[in-house]
Amino acid sequence: MNALRVFAHIVLQHGVLRYSSTTSNLGNSVRNKLKVSSKQLAKPQPIDILNNLCHEERLNRHVLTAHHEGVASHAKRRKSKSCGAAIAGKNIIFVAGLGGIGMDTCRQIVKRGPKNLLIFDRLDKPDYITELQKLNPKTKVAFYSYDVTVPLSKSKELLQEVFEKYETIDLLINGAGIMDDHQIEKTIAVNFTGTVNTTTAIMDFWDYRNDGPGGVIANICSVTAFYPNCQVPVYCASKAAVFSFTVSLALLAPVTGVTAYSINHSITRTTLGQNFNSWLDVGPCITEKLSDTPSQSTAQAAKSFVKAIEANKNGAIWKLEQGKLEEVKWTGFN
Ligand SMILES: NC(=O)c1ccc[n+]([C@@H]2O[C@H](COP(=O)([O-])OP(=O)(O)OC[C@H]3O[C@@H](n4cnc5c(N)ncnc54)[C@H](O)[C@@H]3O)[C@@H](O)[C@H]2O)c1
Repeated sequence: MNALRVFAHIVLQHGVLRYSSTTSNLGNSVRNKLKVSSKQLAKPQPIDILNNLCHEERLNRHVLTAHHEGVASHAKRRKSKSCGAAIAGKNIIFVAGLGGIGMDTCRQIVKRGPKNLLIFDRLDKPDYITELQKLNPKTKVAFYSYDVTVPLSKSKELLQEVFEKYETIDLLINGAGIMDDHQIEKTIAVNFTGTVNTTTAIMDFWDYRNDGPGGVIANICSVTAFYPNCQVPVYCASKAAVFSFTVSLALLAPVTGVTAYSINHSITRTTLGQNFNSWLDVGPCITEKLSDTPSQSTAQAAKSFVKAIEANKNGAIWKLEQGKLEEVKWTGFN
């Protein structure tokens, strides 16, 4: 019975996902209506939602109806603001933009001419910032020192500073990650809580219910969210958590105006696994194993990443594998 409920839950969710692929398209009048639905949403606890499909069905129908009513007017508003591009002319925050995947993706992003690229990272690499700035002098590149494990209040303070300076932010990319299964709390703190906190912090500025303009979130998850590597189960579970969080964000887009999609890299050649420790030392060194497995370069992954950003599709599950980009269709449990 429980499995059936979970199955139906997923089907319902993805019904909404399909419908809300343009969920940034909501009008003011609809937002007001959605204040009612968001109150309804706040009532039940997560466990109640899973255990009460009738409620969820009602909720999803409510959100969908409101969504369809609002599409036209909000689409007009977004179009005049965005001119259709997801990178060119935009203000973008890239959390962990100076790592292996991050830096090559930043190179591709800068070439596409955002107005401002703000890199939040705990690494301080001034040479990288200079290089990015030189790639496209029309784009302003700025660095902000940021450790995603700081308390939520600190993330909010930093974003307050950023919003005061830049006024609008269009896209937030969350990419901080570590892989070391001897550091359980830290893995959860960086890979999962850090993404949730940064997202929570930006909602103050983006959420329709605060009269915000909405926004877009790209969360770097991993194919290990779906195909766990049992040597690093803590890492994989943290990525599955970010994936689940991202699906929920996409479902909430009609309420918040914030759309979201997941970026799931397959093995990409970076230093991520260099200091790898296996949980309970169950496996051999992952770097030795990975050297025999097909992989992609960060440059290849970066090209796929910017294609996914340009597609700008709420709820999309993107797989980036061996230089190819593929949108994964969730078909539920068979
Ligand atoms: N390399 C792969 O095969 C692969 C596959 C799937 C997903 N990923 C994910 O891609 C992302 C980037 O990984 P990468 O392979 O480029 O590794 P990397 O080690 O080169 O980069 C990790 C990035 O995360 C940042 N980071 C770590 N802890 C942080 C903290 N506390 N606060 C702020 N930033 C922090 C680092 O400074 C760096 O920018 C990670 O989330 C990783 O899990 C990587």
